[in-house]
Amino acid sequence: MAPEKTFYLETFGCQMNAHDSEKVIGTLRQQGYRQVETEQEAGLILYNTCSIRDKAEQKVFHRLNDYKRLYKEGKRFAVLGCVAQQEGERIFDRAPYVSLVSGSASYRKLPEMLTRLEAGEGRITGLDDRQTEETFETEFTARQNPYRAYITIIEGCDKFCSYCVVPYTRGKERSRTSSSVLAEARRIADLGYTEIQLLGQNVNSYRDPEGKLSFAELLAAVGQVPGIRRVRFTTSHPRDFTLDIVDAIDAVPTLCDHVHLPVQSGSARILEAMAREYTPEWYLERIAWLKAARRRISLSTDIIVGFPGETPGDFIQTMDLLAEVQYDCVFAFKYSARPNTPSLTMIDSVPEEEKAQRLQVLLERQREIQRSNYSRHIGEIIEVMVEGSNPNRGQVAGRSSQNKPVNFEWQQPIAPAPGSYLRVKITAAFPNSLVGEVV
Ligand code: SAH
Ligand code: SF4
Ligand code: F3S
Repeated sequence: MAPEKTFYLETFGCQMNAHDSEKVIGTLRQQGYRQVETEQEAGLILYNTCSIRDKAEQKVFHRLNDYKRLYKEGKRFAVLGCVAQQEGERIFDRAPYVSLVSGSASYRKLPEMLTRLEAGEGRITGLDDRQTEETFETEFTARQNPYRAYITIIEGCDKFCSYCVVPYTRGKERSRTSSSVLAEARRIADLGYTEIQLLGQNVNSYRDPEGKLSFAELLAAVGQVPGIRRVRFTTSHPRDFTLDIVDAIDAVPTLCDHVHLPVQSGSARILEAMAREYTPEWYLERIAWLKAARRRISLSTDIIVGFPGETPGDFIQTMDLLAEVQYDCVFAFKYSARPNTPSLTMIDSVPEEEKAQRLQVLLERQREIQRSNYSRHIGEIIEVMVEGSNPNRGQVAGRSSQNKPVNFEWQQPIAPAPGSYLRVKITAAFPNSLVGEVV
């Protein structure tokens, strides 16, 4: 009898990577592999990697450091995802015990690559030259999240922001057909999921290859699939953010009242250097549409501080924009110079301490904004979807449609299942979460 094939997979990076991993796990199972919880138990160890910032990438290389011994014990290693695509065959030089390197645009070839690996081959690659039109669609997705089902509707990126690796690591932009997306949404609903999150690096740049539905129409159609109660979508690019998206949210109650719209900077000059192709005014016009919606739409964003050439004056403009928009959540990062990107050739002029200082100032100000935003919910009754619970402490954690974490006490012996909905009266608020009691 052949020895059992086992694998351990660890995922770094964004939700697209998390969902790719669900599809990779499904593919591996289909190939006869069993997933195990630790590297010790595994015959094949895979990392699905991220290279968005220097730290993310270093984490991966740190892991690959010393595999000689494990390799001699018979274990094999595969590097997937964005570091794999970015570094390509250089990974074999840097980490000689790695046998397989594949970027996300080549996952369709995984079964074949695995067969070669099992036959004892090394230096197996699946690398993309920004040519592929293929999307990774599989019926074998092994969904790991008990309450939220991801659907990738568009892969890759054609925006080429000057600081960003994604156009190089995930290939060119390519959308799935709306029929295939809707068929998957219906399958997901049949499985019992009530929340769907549509994914894409620029989800709203979606273009139906069949020419049937616009992004806003697809959004509305997914929201109308019987059984689906919540639809989220991430990440929207301001360039492609159209008014009909707000109309869809107005018209279809299952579309969550939350939009993540990364701005990156409040300075027109810096936005231009970033090649974002919009001005603060353009961005704020979209925010005004969202603020004029029938339901109050919660807003969140991404910011980069310390981009090459960012002056204290530019930074103040970013702070002013935060004050104006009043986001409910901000992901802020220090600029990190990345391989292959145009901004690599710009002088990384803001010293590290200054970047850290700006980040801290920004996060402190944002904390105050959120303290005030979140406290406005006190007294409201909110529908919460349960995400998990800590039975020992009688605590349940869930999330509102606006994507705000809501925690509440639970006295009964059996905790509510992940994915169930409860109505919770908000009794207290923190800058990042709400507290309440079930009504
Ligand atoms: N496609 C999305 C974002 C993808 S990456 C968009 O365009 O909005 C997620 C976030 O990481 C970005 O919004 C940006 O804020 C941050 N990021 C990307 N490259 C970075 C870099 N080189 N240094 C610091 N932050 C970066
Ligand atoms: Fe990166 Fe810009 Fe594409 Fe977003 S839109 S993934 S920031 S290149
Ligand atoms: Fe990272 Fe690649 Fe996502 S670089 S953030 S895993 S697209």
